[in-house]
Amino acid sequence: MQFTVNGQTREAEVEPDMPLLWVLRDELGLTGTKYGCGVAQCGACTVHVDGLAVRSCQLPAGAAEGAEIVTIEGLGTPDAPHAVQQAWIEAQVAQCGYCQSGQIMQAAWLLKSNPTPTDEEIDAVMSGNLCRCGTYPRIRAAVHAAATKLREA
Ligand code: FES
Ligand code: FES
Repeated sequence: MQFTVNGQTREAEVEPDMPLLWVLRDELGLTGTKYGCGVAQCGACTVHVDGLAVRSCQLPAGAAEGAEIVTIEGLGTPDAPHAVQQAWIEAQVAQCGYCQSGQIMQAAWLLKSNPTPTDEEIDAVMSGNLCRCGTYPRIRAAVHAAATKLREA
């Protein structure tokens, strides 16, 4: 099966019902995307599929074939981080870090769909991505900071 991941064509011999998360982590070695619950409840596995934030633990590989997939590894680079990644570093959002690649992918999608979100809009979207460490106040601040960076870019 062929996938477009972070702008590259990648091949993986997988069954169409294998969750995309397994394809990314186990077949393609992209381990930045995390397994949390496996049942679409925590958001740790969030990636972008054709521009939408999607829980990859519940998306069958067959449904992702031919789509544009972006993972945390493809959102930015260490030399040219995405505005959300820059804001996350500056605000030191992460605590244990486990949920954070999913949070960043969710936040990047949020700002694409709503470039000037209010606190309430940020909370409504981001609270669906679970963070046991309770980093939500820093997530909110970093989303506002990233929104400003994107506006000024
Ligand atoms: S691992 Fe996919 S939502 Fe929790
Ligand atoms: S930073 Fe630890 S779970 Fe979110």
